[in-house]
Formats: sequence, structure tokens, C-alpha cells
Amino acid sequence: MLEVKQLSFAFGKHQILDEVSFTVGDGQIIGLVAPNGTGKTTLLSLLCGLLPSGKAEINLNGENLKKNRVKFLEQIFFLESSNHLYYDLNVLDHLKYVEKMWHSKVNIEETLAELEMTDYKKKKIKHLSLGMKQHVLLAMYLVSDAKMLLIDEPLNGLDPTSIQQFEKIFRDLKSQGKSLLVSSHQMDSVGRISDTVFFLRDQKIQVEENAGQDMMHEYTSMFLDAEDRHD
Ligand SMILES: Nc1ncnc2c1ncn2[C@@H]1O[C@H](COP(=O)(O)OP(=O)(O)OP(=O)(O)O)[C@@H](O)[C@H]1O
Ligand SMILES: [Mg+2]
Repeated sequence: MLEVKQLSFAFGKHQILDEVSFTVGDGQIIGLVAPNGTGKTTLLSLLCGLLPSGKAEINLNGENLKKNRVKFLEQIFFLESSNHLYYDLNVLDHLKYVEKMWHSKVNIEETLAELEMTDYKKKKIKHLSLGMKQHVLLAMYLVSDAKMLLIDEPLNGLDPTSIQQFEKIFRDLKSQGKSLLVSSHQMDSVGRISDTVFFLRDQKIQVEENAGQDMMHEYTSMFLDAEDRHD
């Protein structure tokens, strides 16, 4: 379980989060939703120590991010986007790297087959399409076998079949007891996969349980209607 208490963060005078507290349980999928430039990527970066979290207390299965940094980080996987892949290395190189660094026993060839990536496993990243690079990122998450997966806009650039494939994989990970915090602008997918949605608004997190409601409608009432009221 991930427990976050009193997390605040600002870029200079630009406050992004104001004393946010939340938990993510084992086997839970949380959708992270907010308009562009609100702070989703910033939040994910804070949760794995890529940005300083100040006085906040962040614990993952009893390990504290500041006090037991290595034990905390070996349970978590986050790679912001395919821009962070090594352009001159191939797909297999990336997966072997993750296997080694996360001491994983996940079978790379089976993962490639599951994601229908075997044909391009020897291709360099610089020769892949956006959707193919999204597959590489997801394969890295699977190979890491980490308990907590922070996934930033994994559905960007995917065709409808791949979206279904990714949603199935998220559900499989959930059934293995993994915790997923997944940011997305695809409200229909968020509605299908999430147990709970964190809407980031006014530097706070508004938690909505997913009871099958129309998430696009939730989004509109949370962000667009609120904008109208400011006019
Ligand atoms: N390194 C930085 N220095 C200063 N400001 C930054 C930095 N990174 C992000 N910001 C600002 O912080 C805010 C939140 O950015 P963030 O990337 O977290 O948003 P986001 O919700 O992930 O947006 P998107 O949906 O476009 O990915 C934005 O206003 C952005 O301009
Ligand atoms: Mg972002």
C-alpha cells in the first residue's frame, strides 16, 4: 500500500499541490485525471523521489521514501514517457536492463509475445512508431514486476485494438495484486479500468469511487462547468 501524507509542491511561486494526502491499496487501479498542465506528471515524479517532497511522508509497504530510499524505490516503477528511452538501443536491450536493475524473474520473451512485440524486439527505439514505443514502455513495466506502477498517459497514440490490449493488461496486473496509478485523458478508458479516480483540481485531489458513472460527465462537471462559473 502507498500512503501519502501532507504532500505539497511548487515550481517557484507556482503551487502545484497543497497538502495532499491519499492512499493506494494493493490490487487497486487509480485513474489520475486533470487538464493539461495541472500537475499529474509532477505528482508521479514526486512519488518516486524525482522531485523533492519536502515535509511530506511517503510510505510504500512500510518503507519510507526518504529514510529507506532504496527499499522504497525497488518496489516502484516509473518512466515518464517514451522520450526517456535510449534511441540507439533496441527493445530487447531496454527489457534486459529493467530485468537486471529490478532483479526480476519475469520472462522477457513471454512478455514480448503477450504484447505482440516479438517482430520488432531487435529494432532500435529511433526506428519505432509512437504506438510501438508505448508498447516498449508497458513491456518495461511488466518486466520490472514492481508492486507499484506509476504510468503516465500510457494510452497516448494507441490504436483501438492496442487500447483494449493495454486495458486487459492493467486488469491482469490488478489481479496479481499490483497497484497502478495511471494518468489519462481518455475518460472512457478511465471509466473501464479504474476502481477510483483522483481528479487533481485547485492543488488538491478529489477522490471519486468508480460506480460505473460516466467519467466524461464527471470531468465536465469538475473542470469545464467550473471554468464557466469563473467567467
Ligand atoms: N521543470 C519545471 N519547471 C517549472 N515549471 C514546471 C516544470 N515542469 C512542469 N512545470 C509546470 O507545472 C505544471 C504542471 O505540469 P505537469 O507536467 O505536471 O502537468 P500535467 O498535468 O502532467 O499536464 P499534461 O496533461 O499536459 O501532461 C505546469 O503548469 C508546468 O508548466
Ligand atoms: Mg503530464
